[in-house]
Amino acid sequence: MLKQTLIRATEAAAVIVKEYFDKTYKISNKEGVNNLVTEVDHKSEDCIIQIIREDFPDHQILSEESGAFIQDSSYKWIIDPIDGTVNYAHGIPICCISIGIEKDGEMIMGAVYNPFINEFYFAQRGWGSSLNDKKIQVSNETDVLKSCLVTGFPYTYLDEPNGPLQIFEKFIRKGIPVRRLGSAAMDLCWVAAGRFDGFYEHKLAAWDSAAGFLIVEEAGGKVTDFEGNYYSPYQPHILATNGKIHDEMIRWISGNV
Ligand code: IPD
Ligand code: CA
Ligand code: CA
Repeated sequence: MLKQTLIRATEAAAVIVKEYFDKTYKISNKEGVNNLVTEVDHKSEDCIIQIIREDFPDHQILSEESGAFIQDSSYKWIIDPIDGTVNYAHGIPICCISIGIEKDGEMIMGAVYNPFINEFYFAQRGWGSSLNDKKIQVSNETDVLKSCLVTGFPYTYLDEPNGPLQIFEKFIRKGIPVRRLGSAAMDLCWVAAGRFDGFYEHKLAAWDSAAGFLIVEEAGGKVTDFEGNYYSPYQPHILATNGKIHDEMIRWISGNV
């Protein structure tokens, strides 16, 4: 039932997100000048929450645009109604709906759907990850120097040692390809699918990574913070890799390479 509701909510939101893609809709700013939210983010979110509420009225919900609905339940749905809103608002079809389900503080299920390229990623803890119902697996690359990486940058500049620009510069100076798609959930799914060998980012929110980090882990990858600790989506740093380059990536990111 949990899985059916998750898939139904993700697919229903995707219909809305797709329908408005080339239409005119309202766009506003959140904090910062380029941290956008569109009318479609809200429509997608309302649709997802309504479907969850119909099936599981007592479950907790944490959703990007409308915040937390705290209830006495061990289940929590973590929703990003459009991940990649800036892309979406510019007509760039690299964006998706991302929903993770936590039980007793552990992520147990996740779905990420990009309806523009028709890629539906799903994972259930202990059952592996799939792309359009076919099992996926992380890459086999063992050398950071030969890796294809992806990252993202925060909406407001992070001026700190080993910040986003310093780490990016280090990789670029060595000629390592580091892509920047603008959707953390897609970044994670593409690590899970073996397209990227690793992804790191300095400032994510729980809804950006909730589903995607489980999808990476269930595809055989590794997800931690920048020190290699157990990953919690409630702290900002994320390092998600195929597992084979993970320790070396930690050395690059922590300034020891
Ligand atoms: C953003 C995207 C982006 C990441 C930002 C996120 P949004 O989510 O995932 O890739 O770099 O940190 O906020 O705002 O499009 O849902
Ligand atoms: Ca997001
Ligand atoms: Ca969003």
